[in-house]
Amino acid sequence: MVSVQFFSRHASVQKILAISSVTRCTSNSVKHGRSVWLRSIFFNSVKYYPTKLVLGIETSCDDTAAAVVDDTGKILGEALHSQNEVHLKTGGIIPPVAQQLHRENIERIVKETLCVSGISLKELSAVATTVKPGLALSLGVGLEYSLKLVDKYKKPFIPIHHMEAHALTIRLINQVEFPFLVLLISGGHCILVVAQGVSDFLLLGQSVDIAPGDMLDKVARRLSLTKHPECCRMSGGKAIEHLAQQGNRLHYELGAPMRHHPNCNFSFSGLHSNATRIIMQKEKEEGIFQSKIYTNCTPDLWLYLQKPLLLTISLGLQEGHLLSCVTDIAAAVQHAVALHIAQRTHRAILFCIKSGILSQPNATLVVSGGVASNQYIRRALQIVTDATNFNLLCPPPRLCTDNGVMIAWNGIERMRAGLGVLHSTDGIRYEPKASLGIDISEQVGEVSIKQNIEYMSLNTMT
Ligand code: KG4
Ligand code: ZN
Repeated sequence: MVSVQFFSRHASVQKILAISSVTRCTSNSVKHGRSVWLRSIFFNSVKYYPTKLVLGIETSCDDTAAAVVDDTGKILGEALHSQNEVHLKTGGIIPPVAQQLHRENIERIVKETLCVSGISLKELSAVATTVKPGLALSLGVGLEYSLKLVDKYKKPFIPIHHMEAHALTIRLINQVEFPFLVLLISGGHCILVVAQGVSDFLLLGQSVDIAPGDMLDKVARRLSLTKHPECCRMSGGKAIEHLAQQGNRLHYELGAPMRHHPNCNFSFSGLHSNATRIIMQKEKEEGIFQSKIYTNCTPDLWLYLQKPLLLTISLGLQEGHLLSCVTDIAAAVQHAVALHIAQRTHRAILFCIKSGILSQPNATLVVSGGVASNQYIRRALQIVTDATNFNLLCPPPRLCTDNGVMIAWNGIERMRAGLGVLHSTDGIRYEPKASLGIDISEQVGEVSIKQNIEYMSLNTMT
């Protein structure tokens, strides 16, 4: 008998149950170890007749995920294969490797999702798949597989914008009405948008360089956190959060970027450089030597990465050695990221109030994307929303990181709104780069906003 985690939205409980009826579906997954998991709703023996059922498929980055969700927001079943452990070993995502892993897993993940859902392909109302933005090679696998399915079973196809799906996930769990402010923080993005409707967004600001998840992943790699026994299997961001709990952030100061920029944009590359400088200084003090090797990129790889593949290896006497102050650095990095995100989001809230886009007390800030699973960053944002009389809503961590549920739910939202449900897939393409919404970030910069964060307790957070 195999343990499967069952998720009930309406009872708001998660139970670990052992159900023999799904053993058939899970036995295959168990062979693949910890990186695969499945969920299903348990329907007792009552026959269940939803009006719409959408299969969601996600392959935009390094997770192969699928889920079936109905039009009431019930998650009938889901499955996910994470490539995290492979990419941790190679020091970052190598697109051809990600593509190969998606190819190896997509069919099994979709079959397992349908099996735990108790739904056949014929019963589906539509298939929804991430087609933008993301890694070209990864998006291609999900799209190709989905197009074959919809062609064979004559189902409508719903192309999904990955960031739109992150933004609307909250509506599966909470009854939050449009418009609301959304902060999306992930490995590839950092965006502030006002969600005015399904597929109707105003872009207030975004990162001018790297995303916070990317920065945390880079710092974690630079700190060789995969060698730390407590966090060797965790993503960079999660490892930083884990170690930060044991550290003292006050030992290092990384600074606050863009304090004098009167807009809602973000920047994380300066924080990354400052963290690297601190790490190099400590390595010198503790006698750890690092050497950087820039491998020759093939033109293809260059295109996918848009930068040289950087591998950092440890050399010398202290190879594999972790800095003694690793927890303090993690705490300082996490605090600097949280503070910057909180400051820029505070500015966006003030803009929304001043321009009349949102008004308290019913205004809501939604935070989603992988980095939104970070509890310290959530606490910093809670301080901001408490001070501005906004409600703060975040999906549970498992729905913040990439998953199939958010894609299926976005499909349901689009079906309900009658937006982008295709009966012919001729000419459909994936798009590695795609913006979200109408860009009003320049107007945001032109509105004079007086921001005083000193009255908030952000600076005294521990
Ligand atoms: O949304 P996501 O799963 O994939 C993208 O669309 O990018 O986000 C992945 C990112 C990674 O950079 C990972 O390090 C970060 O989310 N992350 C976290 C945490 N869990 C995942 N960052 C900070 N704290 C966490 N607990
Ligand atoms: Zn994502």
